[in-house]
Amino acid sequence: MKSHSLSTLSRRTKEPPISWLMATALANPNLISLAAGFTDQASLPVKETTDLVHELLCSPKTGPAALQYGTTIGDPVLRELTASRLKHLDEVPAASPAVWSAERMIITNGSQQMLYMVTEALCDPGDVVLVEDPSYFVYLGILQSHGVHARGVRMEQDGLDLAHLEQVLEGLRRKGRLARLKLLYLVSYYQNPTGITTSFEKKQGALKLLRQFERLAGHPLYLLEDAAYRELRFRGEHVKSALAADPSDERVIYTGTYSKPFATGARVGFGLLPKAVYTPVVRIKGNHDFGSSNLLQQLLTRALACGIYESHLAVLRNRYAQKAKIMRKHLHQQFPPAVEWREPQGGLYFWPRLPHRLKSGPHSRLFQEALKKNVLYVPGQLCYAEDPSRPKPNNEMRLSFGAASERNICTGIERLGKALHQLL
Ligand SMILES: Cc1ncc(COP(=O)(O)O)c(C=O)c1O
Repeated sequence: MKSHSLSTLSRRTKEPPISWLMATALANPNLISLAAGFTDQASLPVKETTDLVHELLCSPKTGPAALQYGTTIGDPVLRELTASRLKHLDEVPAASPAVWSAERMIITNGSQQMLYMVTEALCDPGDVVLVEDPSYFVYLGILQSHGVHARGVRMEQDGLDLAHLEQVLEGLRRKGRLARLKLLYLVSYYQNPTGITTSFEKKQGALKLLRQFERLAGHPLYLLEDAAYRELRFRGEHVKSALAADPSDERVIYTGTYSKPFATGARVGFGLLPKAVYTPVVRIKGNHDFGSSNLLQQLLTRALACGIYESHLAVLRNRYAQKAKIMRKHLHQQFPPAVEWREPQGGLYFWPRLPHRLKSGPHSRLFQEALKKNVLYVPGQLCYAEDPSRPKPNNEMRLSFGAASERNICTGIERLGKALHQLL
């Protein structure tokens, strides 16, 4: 048959690498996965959540309300509490510009839904989005699925290489492609996958460049700041968000989540959006689900209001600091000195770089040897966009200390170390 019943979008959408990685882990129960971006199982707030849900449902005032539909934009108290929290993090006064207000906020089903909707609201097939090189591979999947071209911008220790960003923008201008550029996507805190945090100065610099080129593009160029790991800081100074670097108040789209810092299973995320993007995204969400789970929003509202969220976060930060320390110690002891890596100040990831001659991709000898030794990592190659302007680097790996127990971190790194020594 010549015609298809499937849409162009479904035919274009490739299997996400995450499905393949999860299937590999599930197929072998003895496998130690340092690949999953899951959070620490032992410290999930089970007791706290049980108490909160009990309180919520036992009250005749809040019980039925929590089990009823809510609104598309989300619970007003949760939006208010989240907006205040962001103001506090960005050190802005309570009476701050509209950009931090609850009226600009939408509660979503994980921040993943917001990333999807924002891309849908701004991009058509054939458009261009700039991403960090490497970037969050699930977001790369959204772009691929929508037929949007991702262009990689190199990274330095403190985030984007601004000189390269300018070069990429200039290249698009020369090719007459600037009108197709819509946004720059940054995972700005303890980045997935590299663990790098973008400095405030780099956020200012990126916004300035986007401003400079948007006159030639003929439309606004947005900075989409994905702050999924912002609250998981266990060392170093806090960096303000790009919202604080946007003098116009109209070019930064900020996404955040309560998944990583509270409970990944609750999948409560949020976004602060400029006026021009807010209404289209609310309409799209109306079609997606006309509102995220009210019960889960009420749970988060209570956790924030009574201080449980904050005290749990303190526990989590200590826990991840400890697990990162263990991974660091074992990387030092077990990995050959030719492998380079930097210690993250938060988040869940290490990003070792191997000598160029040693490949780490899914078809590499190293990956197969690691599987034989019952340990799984994310091949770095998966975190690079399909960008014809450069080959995809194939000598890096993402290692997560989020879900694995301390013992499995030690054993997993030891096994990987053996595989590396064998092949080097
Ligand atoms: C960089 C980044 N952004 C967004 C998300 C989505 O998280 P959630 O939908 O649980 O908020 C993740 C999840 O791993 C992530 O790593």
